[in-house]
Amino acid sequence: MAKLIFDHNSEEIDLPENAPIAEACEEAGVPFACTEGVCGTCVIEVKEGKENLSSPTQEEEDFLGEGTCDERLACQCKIKCGNVRISF
Ligand code: FES
Repeated sequence: MAKLIFDHNSEEIDLPENAPIAEACEEAGVPFACTEGVCGTCVIEVKEGKENLSSPTQEEEDFLGEGTCDERLACQCKIKCGNVRISF
């Protein structure tokens, strides 16, 4: 089991390991548009546990750049395990 935590209200959502986070994020109020990693609408900031998210997709690297940035595209991420705290 993995846990997605929203920084603004400390809401915790349990997700299966390797589950996409998009649906939980959308329910929490993260805006989405393309859902394909192109528009950048769904950008989130990872406050804790970025190592527990799937590696950035090619689309994320194209949009956000490579490197140590704490931003991810919620439509592209899966949660691997453990806790991930995000803000948007
Ligand atoms: S919804 Fe467009 S990049 Fe995620």
